[in-house]
Amino acid sequence: MNKNHIFIIGPSGVGKTTVGELVAKKLNYKFVDLDVEISNRLKKSISEYFLKNGESQFRIIEREVLLELAAIEDQSVIVTGAGSVLNALNIDTMKSSGTIVFLNAQIKDIVSRVRNDGNNNHRPLLNGDLESNVTKQFKERLGVYEIAQDISIGTSNRDIEAVSNAIIRQFERFSGEKSDIGSKIVVGEYLASDIAEIVSRYSSTFIITQENIPLRVSLYNTLKENDIIFHEIIVPDGEEAKSFNTYESVLNKMAELKANRSSCILALGGGVVGDLAGFVGSTFMRGIDVVQMPTTLLAQVDSSIGGKCGINISAGKNMVGTITQPKVTFSDIAYIQTLQENDYISGLGEVAKYALLGNLTVKELIEENHQQILARDVSILIPLIKSCMNHKVHIVSRDPFERNGMRATLNLGHTLAHVLEKITDFKFDHGQAVAVGIRFICELSLDLDLISKEQRNEYISILDILGLGLTVPAQAKEIGALKMVDYMYSDKKSDGLLNLVLFLPGGGVELTQDVDKNIVIEALDRFIV
Ligand SMILES: NC(=O)c1ccc[n+]([C@@H]2O[C@H](COP(=O)([O-])OP(=O)(O)OC[C@H]3O[C@@H](n4cnc5c(N)ncnc54)[C@H](O)[C@@H]3O)[C@@H](O)[C@H]2O)c1
Repeated sequence: MNKNHIFIIGPSGVGKTTVGELVAKKLNYKFVDLDVEISNRLKKSISEYFLKNGESQFRIIEREVLLELAAIEDQSVIVTGAGSVLNALNIDTMKSSGTIVFLNAQIKDIVSRVRNDGNNNHRPLLNGDLESNVTKQFKERLGVYEIAQDISIGTSNRDIEAVSNAIIRQFERFSGEKSDIGSKIVVGEYLASDIAEIVSRYSSTFIITQENIPLRVSLYNTLKENDIIFHEIIVPDGEEAKSFNTYESVLNKMAELKANRSSCILALGGGVVGDLAGFVGSTFMRGIDVVQMPTTLLAQVDSSIGGKCGINISAGKNMVGTITQPKVTFSDIAYIQTLQENDYISGLGEVAKYALLGNLTVKELIEENHQQILARDVSILIPLIKSCMNHKVHIVSRDPFERNGMRATLNLGHTLAHVLEKITDFKFDHGQAVAVGIRFICELSLDLDLISKEQRNEYISILDILGLGLTVPAQAKEIGALKMVDYMYSDKKSDGLLNLVLFLPGGGVELTQDVDKNIVIEALDRFIV
């Protein structure tokens, strides 16, 4: 199906047709009016058909015609009838074949526009007392429009030109970024206004964050300029934030501040904040929307995508949580500039992972621009981060709940990394532990004749040029290979087996569970000296 149509929804009289025609003209798209198409098909006006056959019969025809229009090849602006969203299947059809734009207006403006229109033959449901019928219908349908929309545009106090320009701006920003997992990704620099636009749709915004994030102040200024109601909730630094105590105190604070189901959470921070805030969002009042704004490199390329969120308990890290996709993830590159060097390098561990998973764009960007990457050059960071995020979305959309082994391949290097984090009491940063874990997988894959020496060297050079030539922590040697491998078997994702993502001879990786334990011990013994 064509995934790039623009569907315009909204109440009668809001100006869908006039605006839709102008948007189509500006974008050089085909313009189609669903009601006109239905009328042509029926060879009579919609009012006449309604009178004779009733609404339910009309909705059946409306569904058939919508399906046909959604399948047309030409990119189109498709204006729908005010009631087309009443059938949830229509919303699904629109979502899967384009972007849904909700044209909204104040009731008084809608009433006056409908009245001035003079010709309400095609609006049979508004016959009678116009003002009260328009008001009643708008109130009844508002909730459905809000659920259906990808983009909401206000039309009161704006002329057609301004409305059509606002639609095009938003559509261009979001349509290309729409992911298959139902959430959107925006990558850029200084995205505060875009964030304000998204959170303005909620009654209030709860920003879960940490003291260490300097640029948050400028975001707050933009939110204030846009009259956004927001509350800041500061959580501790480090894994302590992912505890039951912090989780409970955040929930209580939100309840105290009267958060409700139309509030949203803005997770403003690294992976720790994202994991905690995502879990709060997925459980507060049985779930409210979460917008992720990852501020570390690791969170931008990895943890903010895919919906995994949660907290730690004494039995293990990330043992309690959910998989709930955020509404939007905004990766603002400006935040990368204020990161401590070790946190930046830690993120590069995950970036290197994508190159080694077979992402040629990431590999080429690293090989050709590693100096600029290390210097945090924005012009390289934007395509690099975008490509990593898209890679993760692509994998997660095919295995959102980690059931068929596809998502598990993202754990390249992670089985050993988790053990290294555990034995160093999480002093060894996650991304750096992943880089060491990947080095080990290179050695093991070579031992198993899965890759050649040249391939091993090529993979390791990707880590080297990014400054990930890390040494194994001393604790590993103290504990010894035998015990370390036992720990690897008890990884929470292992089910008593040894999960290893290994390189494949022709390139790419595969999740395996049947490597001989002794071969792993032997390889690790050599690796940790
Ligand atoms: N959900 C997932 O899929 C997933 C995947 C990987 C890792 N994780 C989790 O992510 C966490 C690690 O994330 P992390 O590496 O981002 O660590 P982190 O969140 O602890 O951030 C590292 C440090 O950077 C600071 N910081 C954040 N943004 C900053 C900025 N812009 N400028 C200056 N300082 C800033 C933080 O306050 C913190 O002190 C772990 O808890 C891990 O379990 C989750």
